[in-house]
Amino acid sequence: MGNNLEKNQNIKSSRGNWTGHLGFILAAAGSAIGLGNIWKFPYITGDYGGGAFVLVYLICVVIVGLPLMIAELMIGRHSQKNPVGAFRKLHYQKTPWQITGWLGIASGFLILSFYSVVAGWALAYIFKSLVGFSGTSQHIQGEFIALVTHPSASIWWHTVFMALTIAIVIGGVQKGIERWSKILMPALFLILLGLMLYGLFFTHGGIQALTFLFKPDFHKLSAEGMLSALGHAFFTLSLGMGAMLTYGSYMRKNESIVRDAITVSILDTVIALMAGVAIFSLVFHYGMKPGQSVGLIFKTLPVLFAQTGPLISVPFFILLTFAALTSAISLLEVVVSYFIDEKNWSRVKATLILGGAIYLTGILSAVSMWTISFRGKQQGFLDIFDFITTNYMLPIGGLLTCLFTAWVMKEANKIEELGSKGFLYKGLIFFLRYITPIAVLLVILNGLKLLPFVDYK
Ligand code: PHE
Repeated sequence: MGNNLEKNQNIKSSRGNWTGHLGFILAAAGSAIGLGNIWKFPYITGDYGGGAFVLVYLICVVIVGLPLMIAELMIGRHSQKNPVGAFRKLHYQKTPWQITGWLGIASGFLILSFYSVVAGWALAYIFKSLVGFSGTSQHIQGEFIALVTHPSASIWWHTVFMALTIAIVIGGVQKGIERWSKILMPALFLILLGLMLYGLFFTHGGIQALTFLFKPDFHKLSAEGMLSALGHAFFTLSLGMGAMLTYGSYMRKNESIVRDAITVSILDTVIALMAGVAIFSLVFHYGMKPGQSVGLIFKTLPVLFAQTGPLISVPFFILLTFAALTSAISLLEVVVSYFIDEKNWSRVKATLILGGAIYLTGILSAVSMWTISFRGKQQGFLDIFDFITTNYMLPIGGLLTCLFTAWVMKEANKIEELGSKGFLYKGLIFFLRYITPIAVLLVILNGLKLLPFVDYK
């Protein structure tokens, strides 16, 4: 056992691994916590009507997200590989299951392309905050519209953000990813806590925000809302595309995967709910509408910041940008680790070429005037890429990962990763075999309006 451990750590050190336990937790939480929690969760909750959506999302986190995070970490740590190599190593070289890895790499590529555009807005808002927000709430909201409809501005900030992401990923696992997460994640938590307490106790919107978020009204929940709640559980926990699998491959053998997966899922969910309370308190306090789509946080928070001044707003947008950065790093790392492991590219070459290609694809999303007809509406690429990756690519990738772990991966390998064959093992495998895949399948089919027993009119 001791020997094995040493051997494992030797293998790992050539690919890089986390310096310690806290390093892993922070990096995984850094991947999970990002724009998904602070930008996306509040806005889609607003768009899909509040409480009932939140409830479905929370259920999805528990019965789909958590088991899958455990599965991804198991596959990653056992194989010590990137998402494609992992399936090859745990099954056989030409296994069809490697498609799961391909799909993941494609998802990482597409998600990062639009993620960087939104992160660019956050970056732009650091500088706007320095100057300060002023004027009527209409005026402040107009500034957001001006930013997104001004292609050169959006493209510029997207460029800066991608350059930062590429620079850090070139730095490699320990120096790049871990060092930043250690400082910035705790700081983000504190500032969000402050904003939430402010919203609850110093605005008139606190109670209404809690009601909106936690009192389900099922009449407001559509089939698409349910699909989006599931998709968001994947998106926010960085699941279904091999990010957690890749991070698991840098994890040491003597740590408990289950405990770490629970910690990361709880942290991620708590941050999202805190952001929700903070933002909806303001929405209701200022009499705004909850359904403001992608602009929600950029339109509401600055109205408050106009009163509090740059002392709060500058740190907030700095931390939001860093939260986005630690997620963006994990998205790029998935794509890059494949080319390093399987194609023998150097880290620098892989990061520059793939990062460059993602950057160019992102320009499509940065120019909001470029729209095409999608699902019966004229839509921009940001929305379209987000919809396809979040609602279909991640859940399908997750479904395949889950089936692989439950039915294909060798029992001895699973036991090795989980430590024992006790109650926990049996419960988890039962979930991965039956509950999780059936839940995912039902929600996808429902989203496509294909369930025979539901009346979609
Ligand atoms: N989980 C990240 C967020 O919430 C986004 C992400 C998705 C990162 C998928 C990695 C993989 O912002």
